Amino acid sequence: MPVETLKNAADPIAGHATIDGITLRTDSLTDLRWDRVMPILLEEQVFMCHQMRPTVHALRGRRNRGLNILDLGAGSGVFGIYLDRQLNRQPDGELLTGSDLSAVVCLDVNLRAIRFVQDNAERNASANVRTQCERYSERSAAPCSQDVIVINPPYHPVYGHWTDDVALHGAAGEDGLGVFREWKDLIATHLNHGGLLIGSVMSPTSKHGTVVAMEELSNALGRDTSAVRFCRHLDDPDPSVEEFLKTVYADYLEKEPDLYQWIGRMTQRFAHFTVVYFETEKSANGRTGVREDLVRCRPNDDFKWRDRMQVHALMARKVTRSGEVDISRHPQESLER
Ligand SMILES: C[S@@+](CC[C@H](N)C(=O)[O-])C[C@H]1O[C@@H](n2cnc3c(N)ncnc32)[C@H](O)[C@@H]1O
Repeated sequence: MPVETLKNAADPIAGHATIDGITLRTDSLTDLRWDRVMPILLEEQVFMCHQMRPTVHALRGRRNRGLNILDLGAGSGVFGIYLDRQLNRQPDGELLTGSDLSAVVCLDVNLRAIRFVQDNAERNASANVRTQCERYSERSAAPCSQDVIVINPPYHPVYGHWTDDVALHGAAGEDGLGVFREWKDLIATHLNHGGLLIGSVMSPTSKHGTVVAMEELSNALGRDTSAVRFCRHLDDPDPSVEEFLKTVYADYLEKEPDLYQWIGRMTQRFAHFTVVYFETEKSANGRTGVREDLVRCRPNDDFKWRDRMQVHALMARKVTRSGEVDISRHPQESLER
């Protein structure tokens, strides 16, 4: 097996991953409990860790002190625990101390996720990772206190009244941006001058080809004062909104004819779905506005939308609040990735 593969492995079905020396446990992709903890995917979280690493190290160098980091919607704590390892240990394993130590807070509304963060932090002997179990709000952090906020918010587009039936880590309103919208204005108040918002989100694109989430983020942080830079995760051409929703909700189309109307409405509003990685600087010194000019740290040409749509099809499965799958409502049970 190539060294790169050994250093960076993710098995979303088994529910574990290894990234540059840290190991993490999550729930399995096929566990349909409502509060399941988001599994780690090579093309998503592992890619994000590698992509953000030089940017965060550069900020650490500029600030010349430990950073305040908020891993918002932390799930397993993958980003917080990764950055703790990157920033708080010397290459020889020695821990930094005092004002050199970065402080990481992993915040999640899901108590099950918080328990996974605690277990994963212990497993990796994290130096300075705290947890906060709550719904993200104005009170979650002091104003202008954060150097870095990392997000991978729920972004699964949910049909109408189904929100409560879809896994918590996915459900995000009709266009998949419900939670992202709720968070972006709060994030703008919690970041300090020059602070970074780093993240990933699936977004619809407008009929003019703009990425809706990136435009809204730029407005929230101040179009004239902030810089929003992004790249797409996948080389594979983005699917149309119609193709995406019909594929993801295929099992339900016959039973719920209203789904066609919803898909029709969404198709009128938007063109495609795309998944983007972004780095946003509040009060940027250089160029401001939205630019699709980030260079990916590696090609993601092995990863296809076909596979991602299968993951979303799993998220579209209805679950019961007790976490057990309501089998009577799931026509096709076997889904392998
Ligand atoms: C897509 S998962 C990402 C988890 C992790 N960051 C990752 O990338 O593996 C989104 C996470 O946000 C959490 N979440 C959803 N709504 C939230 C809210 N309003 N406040 C705090 N956490 C929330 C979910 O419980 C879930 O763990």
